[in-house]
Formats: sequence, C-alpha cells, structure tokens
Amino acid sequence: MKLTGKIALVTGGSRGIGRAISESLIRAGAKVAITGRDRQTLENTAGTIGAHAIEADVSKEQDVERTYKETLDTFGDLDVLINNAGVGVFKPLVEMDLASFERIVATNVTGAMLMGREAAKIFVARNAGHIVNIASTASLRGAAQGTAYMTSKFALRGMTECWRAELRKHNVRVMQINPSEVITDFAATAGFEQVDHPSKLQAEDIAHMVKAVLEMHDRGFTTELTVFATNPVD
Ligand SMILES: NC(=O)c1ccc[n+]([C@@H]2O[C@H](COP(=O)([O-])OP(=O)(O)OC[C@H]3O[C@@H](n4cnc5c(N)ncnc54)[C@H](OP(=O)(O)O)[C@@H]3O)[C@@H](O)[C@H]2O)c1
Repeated sequence: MKLTGKIALVTGGSRGIGRAISESLIRAGAKVAITGRDRQTLENTAGTIGAHAIEADVSKEQDVERTYKETLDTFGDLDVLINNAGVGVFKPLVEMDLASFERIVATNVTGAMLMGREAAKIFVARNAGHIVNIASTASLRGAAQGTAYMTSKFALRGMTECWRAELRKHNVRVMQINPSEVITDFAATAGFEQVDHPSKLQAEDIAHMVKAVLEMHDRGFTTELTVFATNPVD
C-alpha cells in the first residue's frame, strides 16, 4: 500500500512507540488520528507531529465508538488501525492483586478487541483495510512476574489469529509486531527501572517495521514480525 493520502488511527499515539509510528506515517504522507488518555500530552504530540488528537480510553466502549465517529467525521474514511495502546504490571503471582490484573487486561485485551471490532466493521464494508497489533515478545513466551502482562499479550496474539482468519477474505490484512525491550516510558509506568543504553531498541525502530509491513504490496502481508536488539547491554 502506498501511504500517501491514507488515513490511519493509532491508539496510544501520544508517547513512545505509538508516537514514533504516527510520526513516520505522517512523514510518508498519511493523515493520522492519535488517541491517549492524558489530554495535555496528547495535544502537545498532535501539535508537534501534525496529527489529529482524540482524547479516549481504549478500555471504554463509549470512548472507542466516539474515536471512530470523530475519525470518520474528520477524515471521511479509515485505511489503517494501529492497535498500540498498552500498559504493564510485573508482580509475582502470589502478589497479583485483582485490580492490577484487570487494569492490564482492560487495556491490552478488551481495549484492543473494541478497537479492532469497530475497525473491522468499516473494513469489511469497504472490502479493504489494515490492522497492525503491537504485541510483544511477551506474546511468545512466559516469564516470572509476567502473569498479567504476558497473559494479555498472549491473548492479543490469539485475537490476531482469529481476526486474520475472519477478515482475510474481506481483503483486510491483520498483522502483529512483537518488539522486545524498547526505550520508552513503558517501564516507568509499569513500575520498574529501565537501564538506557545506545544498544537497545528505540521507538523509531518499531515504527520503521510498521511502515515496512504497511508499504508492502496489498497482494501479500506479514502475519507476524519480531524485533530484537542485536546485542543489548542491560
Ligand atoms: N517499551 C517496550 O519495551 C515494549 C516492548 C514490547 C511491546 N511494547 C508494547 O508497545 C505498546 C506501546 O508501548 P510504549 O512502550 O510506547 O509505552 P508508553 O511509552 O508508556 O506509551 C503508551 C501509550 O499508550 C497510551 N495508553 C495507555 N493506556 C491507554 C488506554 N487505556 N487508552 C488509550 N491510550 C492508552 C498512553 O497514553 P496515556 O497514558 O495518556 O493514555 C501512551 O500514549 C504497548 O502495547 C506495549 O505493550 C512495548
């Protein structure tokens, strides 16, 4: 797909990986709507990169429906959904409180489902569309303290496969990107310290791959793509 003039919706586009994806799509000529919950950060980013800001929480059904209404009212159509908004929490199983677990699932699974559902309605009707789910290497293997986050990303991987099976016959490409560690605010909001190092992945590296899978000719698509740092220093 040529990105010039295409319309994309990026959840969690106000910071980190979502912001980098939005910036790169805009540079490629796309029109982009971004979502996030913190209005100030969202508006600052939208103003800086030239996106349309929609303050919305992906885990709230009314917010999701309003997001699509506003995107269609603003741009008139939709070509691409980047399901990127995500949060983490890392705790041993015996310390896993229900509220933390449900918060992660609400955003990473329920939110992704609601966003995907509304995109699919549009894409099936127009017989074309592109969905990129930003999962994680956490969708591929479990680890200690990963009960909430890794479970949510395994679930997202499962949904990706289901959507692919349903939507492929409608010319909808459903793709999944699995970043390993990327330097963003994610670690701080998930409550752990991230050691920055030039050898580690940056948000721009993930944006590069998202743009690449979208730009591939529509006759084919990348089902899933995993991105590692070559030789990260912890
Ligand atoms: N960083 C990594 O190492 C890494 C590795 C693999 C995968 N990932 C995945 O990549 C995605 C982006 O993560 P990131 O590293 O860029 O994190 P980040 O810097 O913390 O950014 C997260 C973005 O999502 C938004 N967001 C969070 N909860 C939301 C909600 N309920 N509704 C709408 N927006 C919401 C945030 O804005 P507000 O807080 O204002 O809502 C922000 O724009 C996530 O799905 C994450 O799981 C990250």
